[in-house]
Amino acid sequence: MSTEDTTRAKSPRDSLKSNARGQLSMLLFQFLIGMAVNLIGAPSETSGFPRIATSILLGRHILVAIGVLVGAIRAIPECARIEPPATGLAWWGLIAVVISFAAGVVTLAVSAGTGWFSYVMAAGATGSLLIYGLLYLRTIK
Ligand code: HEM
Repeated sequence: MSTEDTTRAKSPRDSLKSNARGQLSMLLFQFLIGMAVNLIGAPSETSGFPRIATSILLGRHILVAIGVLVGAIRAIPECARIEPPATGLAWWGLIAVVISFAAGVVTLAVSAGTGWFSYVMAAGATGSLLIYGLLYLRTIK
């Protein structure tokens, strides 16, 4: 690796900063798509254009959920490398994301519109937004 490459390598703080920023944008997007699916209804409850629209939104919602899960896993080693380490927060973030993910799978399996599982997803999204917001703030101090 040349000297130039070494100076360009991201510091642990910078990697965590861009990961936390990504998590925040994906979670906000996730919230909006989830609310749209809730409003239109699940594909099984709709027909015609609303069915196409909600299927596309749900597909996106699942893809973003996978992205958020990957980001939450990546945050753990990143948080261990910053000074002082913030591994505890990163684990809480992963727990909140896994709970939301599981609630999403159950909502879809049982039938969309099952109020409490939707509520768990919304609560998980709110908790995760708070956690990744705090992690982001740690990187700009
Ligand atoms: C990071 C993971 C996830 C988060 C943060 C999340 C968040 C949300 C939010 C905030 C809503 C709106 C809830 C409401 O308006 O009451 C929602 C709705 C929904 N989500 Fe997720 N979600 C996640 C993963 C998933 C997954 C993996 C699936 C399916 C496999 C899923 C399926 C759904 C469905 C079907 C709805 C509509 C619920 C309804 O009509 O009541 N979600 N999600």
